[in-house]
Amino acid sequence: MVAAEAYRQVPDGGCMYGLFAGIMTVMATEQGESQLSFPIHMMKYGEGGVGLWGSLCGTLNGGAAVIGLFEQDKQRRENLIAKLFSWYETTELPTYQPKATKDSEAIPKNIAGSVLCHVSASKWCSESGNEVGSPEMKERCRRLTAEVAAKTVELLNANLREPCKFAGLSPEVKSCLSCHGKELQDSMGKMRCNSCHRQLSKKHPQF
Ligand code: HEC
Ligand code: HEC
Repeated sequence: MVAAEAYRQVPDGGCMYGLFAGIMTVMATEQGESQLSFPIHMMKYGEGGVGLWGSLCGTLNGGAAVIGLFEQDKQRRENLIAKLFSWYETTELPTYQPKATKDSEAIPKNIAGSVLCHVSASKWCSESGNEVGSPEMKERCRRLTAEVAAKTVELLNANLREPCKFAGLSPEVKSCLSCHGKELQDSMGKMRCNSCHRQLSKKHPQF
């Protein structure tokens, strides 16, 4: 239900808006409210990786905003975000299929490999042979929004039953951070390193 509602709302304000509005609308309906009191229009800024800058994918920005709204414990919030983001980085998406409409043909899936809109969308276009900004790309991002919305709610519901644990970063990122994290302290973040640093310099220590 959340997925379908998020899918429905994307055209009104983009990916981040669609995800946020979709989840909030379903919740409000379940609680018998006819109108949302939250100023959801603010979430329109997230479209295309924040105002079309291609930074954080709007679906993840929206998902993390919902997580931030419902989980105030720092550790659990970060675990939920880590689970959502690493799932997005490594899973073949989108698998969400809207009910039969004129747009409900199959849409190619791929693994984004990155939480960044620029990487996720450009890579999908290149792998599927579509142009950036094409109706096919828009449909892909719309289905992705539906799917990330459902995943966010799934994680939050599981977290209500049992505090969210995060299995850990991928072995690759773990190995990079084993030196660049605590020891060298010259690298910020947990994104998959090799989505950008494909080739290390010849003088880089072997490991
Ligand atoms: C065994 C420890 C170790 C591991 C593991 C390691 N690095 Fe490094 N890395 C270093 C050191 C030491 C330097 C040089 C640091 C300096 O110049 O201050 C360096 C330098 C770099 C640099 C600077 C440019 C270059 O290419 O030398 C980048 C980028 C980098 N590492 C990325 C990575 C990534 C990505 C990974 C994981 C795939 C990784 N490192 C794994 C120790 C490590
Ligand atoms: C979205 C792309 C991207 C990702 C993902 C990324 N980096 Fe970087 N990283 C960069 C860029 C760009 C720079 C700046 C390079 C420069 O200006 O020389 C940089 C700089 C660095 C530096 C300093 C390099 C130097 O010259 O001293 C290190 C070390 C580094 N990254 C390690 C990592 C590690 C470890 C990860 C994974 C946890 C990671 N990076 C993920 C793009 C990325």
